[in-house]
Amino acid sequence: MSFDFEKVLTFGASGTIGSYIDFGSRPTHAECDITDADAVEEVVARYKPSAIILLAGATDMTRTEAEPAYAYELNVRGTYNVARAARSHGAVMVYASTSRVFKGNKPDPYTEDDLPEPETHYGRTKHIGEIITATLVPKHIIARTSWVFGGKIQNDTKFYGKVFQQLQSGQSEIVGLNDVHGSPTYGKDYIAAIKTLMSEGNFGTFHVANLGIATRYDLASAMALQIKPDAVVRAVGRSFFPTGSPLPTNESIASKHITLRPWQEALVEYLNEEC
Ligand SMILES: NC(=O)c1ccc[n+]([C@@H]2O[C@H](COP(=O)([O-])OP(=O)(O)OC[C@H]3O[C@@H](n4cnc5c(N)ncnc54)[C@H](OP(=O)(O)O)[C@@H]3O)[C@@H](O)[C@H]2O)c1
Repeated sequence: MSFDFEKVLTFGASGTIGSYIDFGSRPTHAECDITDADAVEEVVARYKPSAIILLAGATDMTRTEAEPAYAYELNVRGTYNVARAARSHGAVMVYASTSRVFKGNKPDPYTEDDLPEPETHYGRTKHIGEIITATLVPKHIIARTSWVFGGKIQNDTKFYGKVFQQLQSGQSEIVGLNDVHGSPTYGKDYIAAIKTLMSEGNFGTFHVANLGIATRYDLASAMALQIKPDAVVRAVGRSFFPTGSPLPTNESIASKHITLRPWQEALVEYLNEEC
């Protein structure tokens, strides 16, 4: 089945994952604020998309935990506005969700069969966003991911950007947590997987992550190997970094339907080709 990606409308295309959207209409935040229901309806009515990808949301987890209203405004109200417009215009909706919908204490990677039990405002609001999407939009794809790398690394103020900056500036020792596990995922592979699901008309909830699990220590070590092989990477435990919210011990996900390449291969490609 052929799918016309020029008829896709994406909210949040200027972000990390959105930087791999090279098709369709991509209104900026300034052109359409998803928390403004009238603005969302106007944009959707204008473009008449066959599908809407929602990447825009509250992604600053320090802020979502300090300001729950910020998380609810974007991830709940914003998602509701987009889902309502998708429904009324008969569009497919793709909702980018997160492994943070899970409690984070399972010994193995979470699969699509596990029940969400979020512990944070971020996780709860993303879970509510999933429920809104699934309830309002008959043809939906909920694509959960985790620990995404991609886009301009200089714009990344989180883990990958910080480690890159530390290694580039010649810092001889960097630290990485070795007691929190996740599924590193290349934004480029995530978008490719979503495109496949869309073109196959495959709807439902999916885990979309590169193969394998890692700790931040594993990731920092893999990055050092590419950027500054003589850097010392030191493993530390969760108590080393004070955070505003409890960190889960396991954010890794696996899919019963989708297999992407190993994260190590994807990370090397990202560092060599984009950084
Ligand atoms: N990155 C990850 O590791 C990860 C993991 C799991 C799930 N996800 C989910 O994947 C999605 C995309 O993540 P990301 O890391 O690519 O996010 P990001 O880099 O923070 O980008 C967010 C995007 O949303 C836009 N945006 C923010 N507020 C908006 C508003 N009120 N109205 C319209 N647009 C708005 C931003 O535009 P401006 O910059 O102009 O405001 C930006 O384009 C999010 O829903 C996130 O929950 C991400």
